[in-house]
Amino acid sequence: MGSVKTLVSIERHGDVAVIVIDNPPVNLLTNALRAQLLAAVGDVAADKAARAVVIACAGRTFVAGADIREFDSPPPVVTTGVVNAAIEAAGKPFVAALHGTALGAGFELALACHARIMAPDARVGLPESRIGLIPGAGGTQRAPRLAGAMAALEMVTSGRHVPADEALKLGLVDEIATDLRRAALARAHDMAVRGTLPMSRNRTVPDIPSPEARAAFDAAVAAVARRARGAIAPVAAAEAVGWAIDLPFAEGLERERMASLELRSGPQSRALRSLFHAERVAARMVAGDGQEVRCRPVQGCGVVGGGTMGSGIAIALADAGLEVTLVEASAGAARAAEGRVRQVYERQVKGGRLDADALDERIGRIRFVTNLRALGKMALVIEAVHEDLLLKLDVFRHLSRIVRRDCLLASNTSSLDINLMADVVDAPERVLGLHFFSPAHVMKLLEIVRGGRTAPETLATALALARRIGKVAVIAGVCDGFIGNRIFSRWRQQCDFLLEDGAYPQDVDAALEAYGFAIGPYAVADLAGLDIGWANRKHLAQKRDKRARSVPIADWLCEMGRFGQKTGAGYYRHTNGRREVDPVVTELVERASAGKGIVRRPVAAAEIIERVHAAMVNEAAKILGEGIARHPSDIDVVLANGYGYPAWRGGPMYQADGVGGAEMLRRIEAMGARDGIGWEPAPLLREMVNAGKRFADLNAY
Ligand code: NAI
Repeated sequence: MGSVKTLVSIERHGDVAVIVIDNPPVNLLTNALRAQLLAAVGDVAADKAARAVVIACAGRTFVAGADIREFDSPPPVVTTGVVNAAIEAAGKPFVAALHGTALGAGFELALACHARIMAPDARVGLPESRIGLIPGAGGTQRAPRLAGAMAALEMVTSGRHVPADEALKLGLVDEIATDLRRAALARAHDMAVRGTLPMSRNRTVPDIPSPEARAAFDAAVAAVARRARGAIAPVAAAEAVGWAIDLPFAEGLERERMASLELRSGPQSRALRSLFHAERVAARMVAGDGQEVRCRPVQGCGVVGGGTMGSGIAIALADAGLEVTLVEASAGAARAAEGRVRQVYERQVKGGRLDADALDERIGRIRFVTNLRALGKMALVIEAVHEDLLLKLDVFRHLSRIVRRDCLLASNTSSLDINLMADVVDAPERVLGLHFFSPAHVMKLLEIVRGGRTAPETLATALALARRIGKVAVIAGVCDGFIGNRIFSRWRQQCDFLLEDGAYPQDVDAALEAYGFAIGPYAVADLAGLDIGWANRKHLAQKRDKRARSVPIADWLCEMGRFGQKTGAGYYRHTNGRREVDPVVTELVERASAGKGIVRRPVAAAEIIERVHAAMVNEAAKILGEGIARHPSDIDVVLANGYGYPAWRGGPMYQADGVGGAEMLRRIEAMGARDGIGWEPAPLLREMVNAGKRFADLNAY
């Protein structure tokens, strides 16, 4: 037998025992740790000289959650709930000392203690619903008894990390202290002396005194269900908070435990856990990329171009505390850029998401100028001028002359070749793509595009920056559309084929929205504007293979001046913010079918979902075969974070593994036979099927 690693130790400070958890890097609760913790609680309970107890963590954070890698195995005997019960049964005060992030089971452990002290920069939260679960160790029963049902509902359904000042105000913690350990010891001692043992379980939910308050709570639960779009965990979490109102503590606790176990072994949580893991892998340098590369410190950033994207990127950087210098083409354009930034922040203030002081501070971090020379000292410059290669090359040439030799040079291009930009600068190893999505300060996804000469150090720095500004990063190679837009354009085309074959835009949107997509593709097109795609198609008309299947409906709409919402009509008619089916479009769709001699037939939602997936997975397999994406799971990360794919389904590659390789190939072959040139199955798919492999096997991490 190997020696058992010591994860929990007990220190003594006078009459207070301190249980110290030490499981680097983030003190996750594992089966082994919980067993040791339970033993430690037993020891301090039995120790007559210890009149009170502090639970604290070594390292950079309190317990940041349970280790989800153990969630695929049967639940352990010693659950966090068992540890919590031992704390409550010990008969002496326990004080949790929270620093870093006390999340999930970690925060539930703290909630079972008799008091909580929090460091000023610490955060607490119950983010289980993000991985398809609900708290399973009393979080949904204790949090509402301390903070009220409405606040607890918001916490468990959003999974938000709550900062210290708010946690104190809500009553989730008892004190904020800079000298955390000392304050916890003092409070523990004091509670022992006074003989107080406040337990959250003995309280009643404070904010539901009347039928009216209860109705407001029920309405909030119903709103969660409406917004969940098929995700079951947020709804279950909201309902569990309701048990804290309706049931005795022990009964609520037991129901919470059962519900949590059921979700844990269910398909949604499995899918979300797979995606959670995939996001971490996607943002990691892997062997061969130079694991130990140092990334450079980035403080000052330049942004060139302050249009839709540049202003959003500047906001994303400023929100993370970075100093930004934004260069525009003229004084007027600089003012316009500042106006765009200000408008975003003002809207946030109006919506209560930002306080007015913070607005000045944020805008104060962005300098609006008109001369590239202002970027001389920057560590990173992101170019976001119009999508025009000659203009971009010009900007890169200029930058190369102005900036430091070690300044990273990034382009936000959505389709142009990063390598051409690297060609015109000194030290091309510092050139990369940073492909943000619109609106850049909101959308989580960031494609980090690695050019032919991009250095590992450049990538590592970009990955660190992505983490700092809260983006989900995925590394992509150079090709038209990178990972996301390349896949998107294929399944959008497949949707157009569905129109010709018998569906209508509203059928396609309804099928995908029912599947869990945030919004259907035709509604998106109307929102984004049809004119951009039209211009692109005209631009690429020469390059297009004339034999490839193409659908004229979008062009017809544009020729009629129907550019989407901004013109009041596109695939739908838009009146007072509502989208309505338009007979004009119905007629156009039918005309397109007739023009090809296609006899229209009813298309079921299942066929729509199947064909959209066939298009996604086939293009993804091509992208993987070409080495544009590193792992199949990266594709899932891109679709879920940038394209509204329902996260609780895990992503298209995860789904494809569920369908099985042979069946997926059969569907894709049928697509190739029906839709012709460009729709042939990816060679990688056949290889996989022949070798009996799944996409998950290709992840190889
Ligand atoms: P935009 O037209 O809104 O903004 C471009 C800005 O660049 C304008 O404000 C213009 O005054 C400025 N500009 C032009 N020449 C300049 C120069 N020499 N120096 C400084 N500023 C200059 O364009 P948008 O939509 O922001 O796109 C910018 C880039 O981002 C393009 O490469 C586009 O492909 C890419 N992109 C766009 C997305 C979108 O949804 N709009 C999404 C992802 C990438």
